[in-house]
Amino acid sequence: MSELDERGGDLAVPDGWTYAPAPESRDVVRLRERYGHFVGGEWLEPSETYETLAPRDEERLAVVGQGTEADVDRAVGAARAAYADGWSALPGPERAKYLFRIARILQERAREFAVLESLNGGKPIKESRDVDLPLAAAHFFYYAGWADKLEYAFPNRRPQPVGVAGQIIPWNFPLLMLAWKVAPALACGNTVVLKPAETTPLTALLFCDVLRQAELPPGVVNIVTGDGRTGAALVEHDGVDKIAFTGSTEVGKAIQRRLAGSDKRLTLELGGKAANVVFDDCALDQAVEGIVNGIYFNQGHVCCAGSRLLVQESIYEPLVEKLKRRLETLRVGDPLDKNTDVGAINSRAQLERIEELVASGREEGAEIYQPPCTLPEQGYWFAPTVFTNVAQSYRIAQEEIFGPVLSVLTFRTPDEAVEKANNTPYGLSAGIWTEKGSRILWMAQRLRAGVVWANTFNRFDPTSPFGGYKESGFGREGGLHGLEPYLDFGDSEAFGG
Ligand code: NAI
Ligand code: MG
Repeated sequence: MSELDERGGDLAVPDGWTYAPAPESRDVVRLRERYGHFVGGEWLEPSETYETLAPRDEERLAVVGQGTEADVDRAVGAARAAYADGWSALPGPERAKYLFRIARILQERAREFAVLESLNGGKPIKESRDVDLPLAAAHFFYYAGWADKLEYAFPNRRPQPVGVAGQIIPWNFPLLMLAWKVAPALACGNTVVLKPAETTPLTALLFCDVLRQAELPPGVVNIVTGDGRTGAALVEHDGVDKIAFTGSTEVGKAIQRRLAGSDKRLTLELGGKAANVVFDDCALDQAVEGIVNGIYFNQGHVCCAGSRLLVQESIYEPLVEKLKRRLETLRVGDPLDKNTDVGAINSRAQLERIEELVASGREEGAEIYQPPCTLPEQGYWFAPTVFTNVAQSYRIAQEEIFGPVLSVLTFRTPDEAVEKANNTPYGLSAGIWTEKGSRILWMAQRLRAGVVWANTFNRFDPTSPFGGYKESGFGREGGLHGLEPYLDFGDSEAFGG
């Protein structure tokens, strides 16, 4: 008997409007049981391996290589040979053709990549489908456009490639961070050894297939998987001319210490603790959407996440009420479900880190709110969380949580907002919500952050440079600025240097 029949004479109106499951098909992805390192266009059998998991249920997805010093050495050798064998001397328009091809293939295979990204990383399919993949392709298109115009980008400066770039990326945007790193490096005529994060190697390994499809010359891009030890071996290798790192401030500092005094070039994109500043004249409902996008997008695994909400005191109560109500509508669950807003936490280690910081928030006296939601039993999950009653000294107001956890603080005047927003060792991003253009400009001049969003948050575009102040790192990725770290200029030679 159907549900309606059972109710007899009752009105045929369901009492709840729950979402039916809308799973994306996994069949578009064909995984191999085992992957090696991609070196010189071939698969190199790894001497050590580990298993990579799906964070939603700890399913074992594949066995991948734990790169050793010898593996890294072979990859750097392959990159050096490809550099010398013609890639660095290839005319810009020819390099551009390869980049355009890669961009188009990524677009064609976007669904496959999006499913794999969500499977291996835990992010909602609607984000990998609508954000990660389109942006990754856009980065290749954008830098393809610069490959034959470097002389115009830097007039009278004789731009030359740097050599072999060692690139180490994190797990929060695996394919997108690969695109941020690989596209400008190749556009400028460098070759690459890239190390994906240990928890999310699979889209980078699938990308090797794209490189073959695009017929990129062997050795121009090499991919060695593994954990921090593999990354350290890349940093230490004498054959690497430049290191580009995105990850924790702790590791970034260690790399900087390691490279001090060497002539290896370095860019660091590290952590953040961004202030999202909401003034009382803002469009409140829009601001609530921006706050939610700012901190719950990608489970808060975002270096530029708006993790500190600074609210003007006069609107504190209505704003927090609206925010809590909005949180109740967030759908937490299967990353491969098209309705999911908040997916799985990337790893057990990251979940433990979030839990530890949230416990510290409770102990220090902040008030916690989590909407009612049932979390799956298997896998790594954390409910969207808001802390109110937060003092600036609390750890949850100081440290990067890198999870779906928002700390709410208040201010009275614009000066106080600036002071509190800048009261952090980081300086990656910030948000401003106000009706007044003049106030946006006034604030943007004073906020010590690489990116300042006004009446929006977490917007990315390949044409716009991204990077930090202070402990958020140095160097810019994206835009014209993003070419510079991958170029040597004849300037010093011109002066006989
Ligand atoms: P992590 O900095 O250890 O990992 C990032 C990348 O660096 C990975 O590919 C890793 O294998 C590599 N790595 C680790 N140790 C290395 C070393 N000694 N030399 C060279 N490469 C090394 O970050 P982790 O442990 O995954 O996360 C810890 C915290 O870091 C997070 O809770 C978050 O606060 C922050 N983080 C920030 C990111 C960002 O986008 N700014 C990305 C990832 C983490
Ligand atoms: Mg680490």
